[in-house]
Amino acid sequence: MDFNYTEEHLAVRDAARDFAQTELLPGVIERDTHQKFPKEQIKKMGELGFLGMMVDPKYNGGGMDTVSYVLAMEEISKIDASCSVAMSVNNSLVCWGLEKYGTEAQKEKYLKPLAAGEIIGAFCLSEPEAGSDATSQHTTAEDKGDYYLLNGTKNWITNGGSASVYLVIAQTYPEKKHRGINALIVEKGMEGFVVGKKEDKMGIRGSDTHSLMFTDVKVPKENRIGEDGFGFTFAMNTLNGGRIGIASQALGIASGAYELALQYSKERKAFGKPISYHQAIQFKLADMATQIEAARLMIMNAAFKKDQGEDFAMEAAMAKLFASEVAQMVTTEAVQIHGGYGYVKEFHVERLMRDAKITQIYEGTSEIQRIVISRGLLK
Ligand code: CAA
Repeated sequence: MDFNYTEEHLAVRDAARDFAQTELLPGVIERDTHQKFPKEQIKKMGELGFLGMMVDPKYNGGGMDTVSYVLAMEEISKIDASCSVAMSVNNSLVCWGLEKYGTEAQKEKYLKPLAAGEIIGAFCLSEPEAGSDATSQHTTAEDKGDYYLLNGTKNWITNGGSASVYLVIAQTYPEKKHRGINALIVEKGMEGFVVGKKEDKMGIRGSDTHSLMFTDVKVPKENRIGEDGFGFTFAMNTLNGGRIGIASQALGIASGAYELALQYSKERKAFGKPISYHQAIQFKLADMATQIEAARLMIMNAAFKKDQGEDFAMEAAMAKLFASEVAQMVTTEAVQIHGGYGYVKEFHVERLMRDAKITQIYEGTSEIQRIVISRGLLK
């Protein structure tokens, strides 16, 4: 593994950093307070190529590697994790899944506008009674000949209200358990598809998280992804890459909080000198920076393996598990270093602390990552 970034990697990182500073930072507190979806900002991210970064240029993508994607995700997440989760889902789950397993017709119709950022997508696996236990799908896709009849409810769907294309996982042959599951492309506006309530969340409050209801939705057969019964494998393989995206989000939340704390420690004076002169603060900063560096190396290792075409499921789960714990620790310490100022919105670190928590929950809880890791170790 080469530890040096290429010129292209650095250019992508700098572009994402500039964009986050100029376009995302103004208004981030307001969007968080009022749960305002960053519609304009996401549109600009699409125009700049951040929504289909790894997709082949022939499908309107950026043709970049996963390392570039991690660098961009970190920069966007430092400032606004609500934008970066939309970015992560569109890149890692929706575009990657369609490019890897979709038909040419599906790529023409859906991948091209998704990769160009003209529309955004959602990935619909979780249900009211099937979160971690993803094989227990209650949503059904009954085979009716030339279409599937889709019925059920999905929960916690990122981009749920704003997406135009939804990749929906549903059970077709219950007796076959996870091998009887299909992945279907559902369009907003299909008869019987209703976007349900928006969740009022603790963090990533700008992001658009909804439940979705499907009642006798007729999904054409040509909208099935992969072979009949491939849906669960599709979801698992897609989530492996998704975990690199969320690990990068956790890394960005941590490094954003760390940078703010470092800066504040140089400015804030106590007992006659900047607080950065006190060893109590220095040791905190040292621990924060060390944890961030370790998380970054683990994520880059998983990204590098993915780019080499190697199996990276375990490394991605390890990276997500570790980075999300680092985000918790670092954001909590960043609030502590800020003292009372850390507890108010204006200084950003309280938001980063709230945003950090979700990285231990979505795209597989920390407990799920441990299952994936231990299966990787024992296989
Ligand atoms: N990669 C590839 N395949 C995998 C896999 C992985 N990481 N994990 C499991 N599989 C495969 C297994 O090999 C097995 O396949 P075969 O039977 O064909 O060999 C199949 O999946 C079933 O696996 P298990 O027998 O191990 O099933 P299980 O029920 O014991 O455990 C699980 C499965 C790993 C716990 C799985 O249910 C899981 O990953 N759950 C978490 C789901 C999740 O991450 N949800 C997030 C929702 S999406 C989201 O949050 C997006 C968003 O909006 C931000």
